[in-house]
This record gives sequence, structure tokens and C-alpha cells, in this order.
Amino acid sequence: MDFSGSKKAWEEGTSVVAGGVNSGFRVGARPHPLVFTGAHGATLIDSDGNTLIDYFLGMGPMLLGHSPAPVIDAAKKQLDVSLLVAGQTPLEYRAAKLVLDLMPGADLVRFASSGAEAVQAAFRTARGATNRMKMIKFEGHYHGWFDNVLWSVAPDPAVAGDALHPIPVPGTQGQEPGENLVVLPWNNADAIEEELKKGDIAGVIMEPIMFNSGGVLPLPGYLERVRQLCTQYGTVLIFDEVITGFRVSAGGAQGELGVVPDLTILGKALANGFAVAAIVGKREFMDLMGSGKVMHGGTYNTQSVSMAATIATLETIASGQPHKKIDGTGVALMNGLKEEFTRAGIEHELVGYPAVFNARFDLKGPTDYRSAIKANRERYMNFAYEMLTHGIRVLPRGTWFLSSAHENADIEKTLSAVRDVLKAGI
Ligand SMILES: Cc1ncc(COP(=O)(O)O)c(C=O)c1O
Repeated sequence: MDFSGSKKAWEEGTSVVAGGVNSGFRVGARPHPLVFTGAHGATLIDSDGNTLIDYFLGMGPMLLGHSPAPVIDAAKKQLDVSLLVAGQTPLEYRAAKLVLDLMPGADLVRFASSGAEAVQAAFRTARGATNRMKMIKFEGHYHGWFDNVLWSVAPDPAVAGDALHPIPVPGTQGQEPGENLVVLPWNNADAIEEELKKGDIAGVIMEPIMFNSGGVLPLPGYLERVRQLCTQYGTVLIFDEVITGFRVSAGGAQGELGVVPDLTILGKALANGFAVAAIVGKREFMDLMGSGKVMHGGTYNTQSVSMAATIATLETIASGQPHKKIDGTGVALMNGLKEEFTRAGIEHELVGYPAVFNARFDLKGPTDYRSAIKANRERYMNFAYEMLTHGIRVLPRGTWFLSSAHENADIEKTLSAVRDVLKAGI
């Protein structure tokens, strides 16, 4: 497959955009950052006119696929009504009601414009509620790119010290010291208890299923114990469901796993590609923002077109149809992948749900970041690259996002490409 048109467009783009990309995560893509000219259903069209079956889905948001009719129609209609009013619209109350109906841990909602900002609002709320400053996060978990939390997302274990008491490792040059952050290994409730006992932890934030570093489920009883410990020590439990919310199930990971946090961060699938995120949670915490004691702002929060898109997205999700369809196609895809990897003699593991799962090579059963990174990531990245050359765009890190726009024919084409790639060798 020829990507020379993308290469030329991207290279020209570097003269006007730093690095030719507008997110650091797009730097260094193999063979080079691609330039897309269209996206419909389960496919992307690039500058070379290639049609690619897409499992990036905008890094997760497009649960209903690219340009789903109900969402696009709602957004188009709203364009003729209002864009930004620096006030309230009935749309945001309707959108909030839909969120509350779906998310088990939500009494109240505050909308934001990105997951990273919503995380900041949750941190501030946890600190405001407890009068404590310190937060706990876990190695390998990602909660946005801001200074106070971009720690130990993908640290080199050689510099991160003892596994039980990791040294926080910054994610970038130019980062402020993480004075108020404690980094711990995930899936180890004793490690959390040791910290909480000190009585100075405002909040604990985690991806309830770790998808940013290799697809790891919580161990049986882990979330329940963390829930109990946070209650016992007066610490605010925050689930970052930016990936899992509305995707793992309509009620997110908490709906699926049955553990309710105090605050939840939502984003991505919430608005199927529009810039909407949210902090939701228990009334006693959310009221701090409601009363203005804890400040949370944003010019673009609840922009009308985004809210119209949010309503259309959530109504579609609430109908149950998208997950019903993805349950069929996703299981077919997971089973097909297992079959092809097995046929090719590749030791592998698939972890997750039909709408989002992680595949890894040469490792089974990791329980945290340090064990997960022992997978054969180079071999998997080669696989992902070869898949791209066969017209299938999958994340090099192993995550697969599925949409309700993926049809059985897309899954068959994908598996046929897997067969060809593995036959040629990776
Ligand atoms: C778990 C998690 N939290 C937070 C974020 C940040 O969200 P955003 O990119 O919308 O700021 C991401 C983004 O990928 C994420 O995966």
C-alpha cells in the first residue's frame, strides 16, 4: 500500500505545524504520520486514496463509527440554532440526565472539554473535600498530559526503582516537580493501605481497567478492597473512565465490575468525536463545584453543537443497539485473532471486552505495568505496521477499538489480512 501522498502532505505540514502533528502522541508514527481526507463508518481515507479499516477510532471516541447519522444530523440541526452562549441551554440538562441514567456512580455532572481537564477538576474537588493535598496514581496509568499527573505513565523500570515503592518518573522535559503525587503499583491493595494509613491522601485515581499500558483487568476483589479502604480513610476514589466509559458497557467499567467510585472522569465515547468530557459523581463532592467553593471553568464547556452530539450519542448507546452489535462482531474478531495467532504459533493473550480489548504477544497474565511491559512489544509493533500496509489500521500498543459501524465483512477482511501478515512472518 502506497503512503507517499500522506508523506508529502505531512512533510509540507511540518513547515506550518510543529512536527506536522498536533498531539505529541502522533510524533514518530510508522512509517510516518498519515494525513486523512475522510472518515466514514468503520473506514478512513488517506491522502493516497487508500481506504483503511480503522481500529484507532480517533483513539477511542467513535463507538458509533465515523460520521454516524444520528449524531451528525443532531449537530447539523444545532448549527442553525446556537453555537456558544456563555450560559445554559436545555441541551446540557438533557445530556446530563442521559449521563446520570447510564452511569451508576453519578448523582451530578459537570461537563468539560477534554479528559485531561476533567481530571484536574476531580483532583481539585478531592483536595477541596478533604483538605489534603496528596494524590495517588499508578504506574502505567494515563490521566492526561498535565504536569501534576504525567508521571510514571511509561517509565523505564531501570530508573523507576523498587516495584513496591516506585520512584515517580516524569513524562516530559519541562515538567513541574510532582510534589503532591504518590506513585504506586496497581492491583496491590496492601500498597494503597500503607499510604492511606498516613492520613494525608486526598484522592486515589486509576483506570479501573488498565488500557493505556497493555490491557490488565483488576484482580478479583481488588476494586472492592480499594473502595472499602478509601471509605475507611476518608480518601476520594476517582475512576478515570475516559476509555472505558460507555464503551466496556453502557455503564462503563463500574457498571460492568460493580464497584462505584466517588468521582468518575468521562470523555471519548461520551460524544462520539466531539470535544466533550465530564466529571460525574456523588452529590457531596459535586456540590463543592456547584456552590463555587471549588472552581472549575471553561469557555467551551457545553458548546451547543457538542451537546446536541452528546445527546444523540447517548440516546443511541442507551438503546442498547450499538453494544448488541459490537458484542457479535467483537467476539468474532477476538476469536478470529486467537485462531490466527495460534495457527501461526504465536503465544498471545487477548484481554478486555468486545468494544475494547488488548492483544499482546509472548506473555500471559500480567497484573500491573511492570509485568505487562514484558510482552514482546517489538514483535507486536511489527505486526501492527504490517497490518497497516494491508489496509488495516491497528494501534501499535495492542489496543483494539471497535465500533457499531464495523460489519462482519470488515472483520473478515481484517482476519484475512492477519492471515496474510502472519504467513509472510513478522
Ligand atoms: C484514561 C485516560 N484518561 C484521560 C485521558 C485524557 O483525555 P483527553 O485526551 O480527552 O484530554 C485519556 C486520553 O487518552 C485517557 O486514556
